[in-house]
Amino acid sequence: MPWSVGAGLEGKGVMVTGAAGGIGREVAKAFATTGARVMVVDREQKAADSVLPDLDGRGHVAVAADLTNLSAHDGLIRRARDELGSLYALAHLAAVLRRRKSVDEVTEEDWDFQIDTNLKAAFFICRAAARAMVEQGGGGRIITFTSQGWWTGGFGGSVVYAASKGGITSMTRGLARTYGPHQVTVNAVSPGQARTPMLMDGLDPAVLESMTKATPLGRIAEPEEIAGTVVFLASDHARFITGATINISGGFLMY
Ligand SMILES: NC(=O)c1ccc[n+]([C@@H]2O[C@H](COP(=O)([O-])OP(=O)(O)OC[C@H]3O[C@@H](n4cnc5c(N)ncnc54)[C@H](O)[C@@H]3O)[C@@H](O)[C@H]2O)c1
Repeated sequence: MPWSVGAGLEGKGVMVTGAAGGIGREVAKAFATTGARVMVVDREQKAADSVLPDLDGRGHVAVAADLTNLSAHDGLIRRARDELGSLYALAHLAAVLRRRKSVDEVTEEDWDFQIDTNLKAAFFICRAAARAMVEQGGGGRIITFTSQGWWTGGFGGSVVYAASKGGITSMTRGLARTYGPHQVTVNAVSPGQARTPMLMDGLDPAVLESMTKATPLGRIAEPEEIAGTVVFLASDHARFITGATINISGGFLMY
């Protein structure tokens, strides 16, 4: 087979959820530079639309969807197939973090909000995408987003978020086994601390400093430093990687 360093994504359809967020926007931008056609999905139309001017190339589309509304998923996938030509890859980033000061402050509503968004919606949108990829033939790529919390379990008020991300790691492995025979790969990326609204909003500066100190690279990540790995996992170069959790934490954890 002739060797190419390109991603092999020219003209392919890619859906990015949470694409108006800190990392999602960079992921959408990175995909657009490969020549892929990107469907930008986020909760608000205005936010989704704001990503389009940042994208190279053409054929991109911005769609508002609340992914906790599971009944919208099939329509979303259909739109991606119709408007992008096909759906080759899904990068599913949409998630929420509700940081509480202590585990005792966590409410049932906090649990439902984070698990419904981060885990339940993830399962159903990934399954809907995988079904489309199987039906299309030709394989596909699903990239999920976990967090270092999948490994550490979080602490105190962030245990629920960590549990949702632990679920993502397990689910990713299970979907990888399920859809492997169809050449649909399913992998998770696990960012360490990245400079986005999710991390920075309400973060105690002392906690940020201690996390930075515990990171061998001595800093937190910029969102674009996560995006390249997502493109790699969607690219031809990663075609034999599935069920993996790729740790992008500057050495904060090593696995
Ligand atoms: N920033 C970090 O340090 C960090 C660390 C580890 C993991 N992550 C993970 O990376 C991913 C991206 O995080 P980020 O830091 O860019 O966060 P962010 O808050 O900047 O972006 C998340 C995006 O998801 C969207 N979203 C949330 N709920 C949604 C819903 N129900 N339907 C549709 N869209 C919804 C939000 O509107 C937002 O634009 C998340 O899965 C997050 O858990 C982030």
